[in-house]
This record gives sequence, structure tokens and C-alpha cells, in this order.
Amino acid sequence: MPNVVVIGAQWGDEGKGRIVDLISEKVDIIARYQGGNNAGHTIVIGDEKVVLHHLPSGILREGKVSVIGNGVVIDPKVLLEEIRDLRAAGYKADCDNLKISDRAHVIMPYHKEIDKGREESNGNTKIGTTGRGIGPVYEDKAARRGIKVSDLIDTDALSQRLKDVLPDRNLYISKVLGKEPLNFENILEQYSIYGKELMEFTCDVSKLLNDSITEGKNILFEGAQGALLDIDFGTYPYVTSSSASSGGACTGTGVSPTRIDSVLGIAKAYTTRVGEGPFTSEISGDTEQRLRELGGEYGATTGRSRRCGWFDAFAIKYASMINGISYIALTKLDVLSGFEKINICTAYRYKGQVLSDYPSNNHMLSECEPVYKELEGWNEDISCAKDVTELPTQARRYLDAIEESTGVPLYAVSLGASREKILFLNEIF
Ligand code: IMP
Repeated sequence: MPNVVVIGAQWGDEGKGRIVDLISEKVDIIARYQGGNNAGHTIVIGDEKVVLHHLPSGILREGKVSVIGNGVVIDPKVLLEEIRDLRAAGYKADCDNLKISDRAHVIMPYHKEIDKGREESNGNTKIGTTGRGIGPVYEDKAARRGIKVSDLIDTDALSQRLKDVLPDRNLYISKVLGKEPLNFENILEQYSIYGKELMEFTCDVSKLLNDSITEGKNILFEGAQGALLDIDFGTYPYVTSSSASSGGACTGTGVSPTRIDSVLGIAKAYTTRVGEGPFTSEISGDTEQRLRELGGEYGATTGRSRRCGWFDAFAIKYASMINGISYIALTKLDVLSGFEKINICTAYRYKGQVLSDYPSNNHMLSECEPVYKELEGWNEDISCAKDVTELPTQARRYLDAIEESTGVPLYAVSLGASREKILFLNEIF
């Protein structure tokens, strides 16, 4: 088993948690490397549904070590609740199987206040964030006024950092957003308790991961969000604030590119997007509503309706180039049963011209039109197929068209939420 990065190849919500849960059986360590509790991974085991926001999806597998890397941003209250809930549900989450980087940055109450305050006042320039404080915490990290886990677990350091940074943030909250400033003592008291509770899990994660690779252990790097929400390569400014691309696995854990072997991209058999921003293959009306209902396309984190569209091979081709995607795991193919015609977006047209490259300019992107390849749909319920040969011809043609239009081979196709509803097309692990 190689060291592999698993990323979302679209705008998030591709079903990464489900695939990571599956592959994690074959690895020793699962490491999350970016994002925070803006993510929501839903995993179905038997009749049970588990939603994870902070913890790597591998935490549900016995005998595996789960790691939260330095590139992740942590809301300590949410993380501690998640650990408690998981334990109550009978899963193990202790200092033996959960390791948190002491270099990760902490989401503080003022980050959430600023995120929500801005979204309320932004009007037309609203991003549609999850309101979890993600943008403001990464902003503080880059502005060198962040609070790291190593500060959180040391009350003196926390007090000093908070003294240094809170006045500035409070000024912003009161003068720019017109809201009440936050109280220093209250934050210090509450967050030093969180620090004490999290202390047992913290360590130098980069050393742990590098030593483990040297010992011959293998690692699955688990991305959150998706390639098109990446801060550098996504549909900026309608993106998240971290490196959701495969490159983020290196900067977000401290493991070098030379120690990573392959990248698995997860893509839904159609496309969804939450929040604002251009979405060229978006559809509307009854077809969209049907896709949303059949696919259960409502956010695991915020409950918002997801915007739905056809599979965008042009965007995946771009994501594949940026991320070096070796294989795609395609999820939710079963949702497309019953559609008379199914489209694949193979290119974008801008002002009458078919583009050869994915645009970097948001204004241009928002004016692009999709170029579709239309395929026949199928009516059969495919959710119980045990082999790709059991799929209707039209479904197999759809899979072939996806491979052809993206230029990336398929590793697996999932046909439902439970662990066994998956077909493997290539043996790569
Ligand atoms: P933020 O990450 O909360 O700042 O939100 C920025 C954008 O990324 C918004 O459009 C969110 O809806 C989107 N986003 C953030 N996390 C996820 C995710 O896990 N799945 C899908 N969209 C996400």
C-alpha cells in the first residue's frame, strides 16, 4: 500500500469520508491536513450514521491511528464534543489512536464572530461560508497573530497571545462590524480548560508521520472540501481559505512530496456546490430538484440545500492536472438511475469560443456556458450490482465517457451509502 492523498475533485461533498473509511482498512495512519469543522463527513455503518467534522474518517477503524495535522484549524469545543460523542457511541478516541499537531491553529470565538458578522453585512459579495470562523482563523495565521494548539495547552502562553491579539480583533468587531467586543477573561478561562482537556492528544505530528514512514508504515492523507474550493486553484474568491489540493498534504503535515506515492480524487457522478460562486454545469428546475432529493443533497455541516448540476469533466481535468490525480473514485452513481438523458460537461464556451484551459478569472468563469455530451440514461435500480458487468449498458457507457472526458481511470464506483455498495474497477491498493 502506497502513501496516498485522498482529495475531493469537485466543490466538496463528494463522499470522501465514505471512501477514506473504506481504504483506511489498508493503512496504518489517517492524517487530515487542512480545513476545520467546515467539513462534514457522513459515514454509514450498518444502521448507524456517523457525521465527523474535525476527526479523520479513519477514527472509526479499529487499530488505526488518526492524526490532525498542522494545516487543520481546530475549534476545541467542537472537537472535544466530537470525541465525547464518538466514545459514547462505542468507538475508541484516546491518546493512543488520536494525535493532534501542536502547530495547528485554534479557531477562537472572535473568528466565528467575524465570519458571521461579515457574511451578514456583505450583501452582494457574500461567500456563503459555513460560519465556522475558517476564513478569519487562516487570515490570522497568515497575519502572524494566530493562536496555536501549543499556546492553547499552556495557560501562560495563551494569556500572553490573547493579550497581544484580542484588542486588534475587538477593534475590528466593534468598529467595522458594529458588534460587541469579546471579553478577555471569559475567553481565557474557557479556552485554558479546553487546552487542558486536549493536552493528552497533542504531539509533534510531523515527526510522528515521518518516523512512521521510515518504519515502513503507510499513511492516508485525508483532504477536506475540494479542489475547486482550494485557496489558490479554486474559483476564487468563492473558495475556502486553505489548500484543499494534494499539495496541502505536504504543508499541512510536514511530510515531503518525495514520500507521497499517489493521489486518489473523489468525484460524485454529478456535481454539487454549496454557497455562492460560479457553477457552469449547474441545472435548474425539476431536474435539479430531483437530483437533490434523490441524492440527499443537503449539507452535513449547515443543512443548506446544495446546488446541483451535471458531471463537469472540464473542471475535473483541471483538478487532475493541479493535483496529479492518479485515479478517480466515483460516488453516488445509483442516484442517476431514472434520468432519461444524462449530460457530461466536456468544455466551457466563453463569448462563443470553446476554451482549452480552465479560466482563472472569476468574472470570465461566471459567464462561461457548458458544452455538453448527451448520453442515454437507464431505469434499472443499480444499487445492488456486485460487479461492473451487472450494470446496464448505458451506465457502463457513462463510466467510459467519464474516463474518456477526464483522461483519468476509475478506481471504484459507489452505488449507495453502506460500506459494501461499491464496485472496484482497478486494484490500486
Ligand atoms: P468556509 O470554508 O466556511 O469559509 O466557506 C467557504 C466556501 O466553501 C463556502 O462556499 C462553503 O459553502 C464552502 N465549503 C466549506 N467547507 C465545505 C465542505 O466541506 N463541503 C462543501 N463546501 C464547503
